Amino acid sequence: MLTQEENELLTQVGPGTPCGEMLRRYWYPIAIASELTDEQPTKFVRILGEDLVLFKDRSGRIGLLADHCSHRGASLLYGRVEERGIACAYHGWLYDREGNILETPPERNDAIMKSVKHTAYPAQVHVGLVFAYLGPAPAPVMPHYDTLFRPDGHRKIKVYGQLDCNWLQAMENSVDPAHAPILHQEYIRGVRQPASTTRGFIDDVEGFEFYLTDYGIMKKRTHKTGAIDEHPLIFPHILRQGPSTQFRTPIDDEHTLHLHINFTATEDGSEPPDAWHPVVEYQEPCKEPVDGLHPNTHFTQWAIIPQDHMAWETQGPVANRAVEHLSYSDRGVVLFRQLVREQIEKVQRGEDPMGIYRDPDHAIIDTKIDEDIWSPQRREEIRSQRGEAEPASSSGSS
Ligand code: FES
Ligand SMILES: [Fe+2]
Repeated sequence: MLTQEENELLTQVGPGTPCGEMLRRYWYPIAIASELTDEQPTKFVRILGEDLVLFKDRSGRIGLLADHCSHRGASLLYGRVEERGIACAYHGWLYDREGNILETPPERNDAIMKSVKHTAYPAQVHVGLVFAYLGPAPAPVMPHYDTLFRPDGHRKIKVYGQLDCNWLQAMENSVDPAHAPILHQEYIRGVRQPASTTRGFIDDVEGFEFYLTDYGIMKKRTHKTGAIDEHPLIFPHILRQGPSTQFRTPIDDEHTLHLHINFTATEDGSEPPDAWHPVVEYQEPCKEPVDGLHPNTHFTQWAIIPQDHMAWETQGPVANRAVEHLSYSDRGVVLFRQLVREQIEKVQRGEDPMGIYRDPDHAIIDTKIDEDIWSPQRREEIRSQRGEAEPASSSGSS
């Protein structure tokens, strides 16, 4: 249970808030790169409570600027792109990707061009996604997580779209291994039936524990078969589970962008064409109507992730942690909250929080994907231990 004040500390993501300032130290995926085209080179994005416009200029470069023009506030979403940047549609003020004002039609106002800098953030395309950094300069490098930087695998982007709830609910779920055999029991049963719907398959689990790594929290779940399942929460906004790297990008306090990159290593270690240019799969909506809020919408729960969306969103736009009752099995949640607090304090002391990399040539970071329980070899081992002919499960958010 948290006080209302503690809850706000961990959930407010806007500029100037303690958590928002800490979260700004990381790179976030904010859009699908292929959504920016010559016909539609701009896209409105709201990230960490800031209204921004993403654009691709006629030189093919990506820029990310504050939505409202520095002149008199028209949206740059309707700006016209050219080789040098984007020109506001209203009076033509021209901005480059760094937020410099290059022209001020109809006159040339040198005083404004020298003194005004439009808010601009670094953005880059990697594995088919646009990543952005909204923190102070200099930006760190994007961490070389194996699932994002290893060349020897197929990649696929799965877009789940907008979650209508705060980022912390999705991330607390990532250190909540007790939920998976219960919430997802219909999708992990294989050929078996659970003893009861109350317990699902939780009695398959001997126990679980957590330990800290340089970049987050590793969850370790030991099954009664002896199988060990480890996968990490990559601080602060990623769950790597099975083949999927699940990003939860805070849009604002009550909305979160949810998308995945799936990585499957090639058997011979070769680099396939889709290693760096993944196909994009837009997933079915998790609720009907898609823009409704509980209880005025129905969560379809058509797979594991949509079941998670039900659980996360029905906690409320921002879960009221002043009325919760944590149990022993919630100790991963407690650990994560503590970690968030500690990283906030580090930023307040002027230090880098955890998982910040500044060497552009740093080594690939091993998140143990090859030993993951959902890797093809491990799944085969587990199936044969259970004497099953069918797959034990599909990937989810466990
Ligand atoms: S409002 Fe953008 S140029 Fe005038
Ligand atoms: Fe889940």
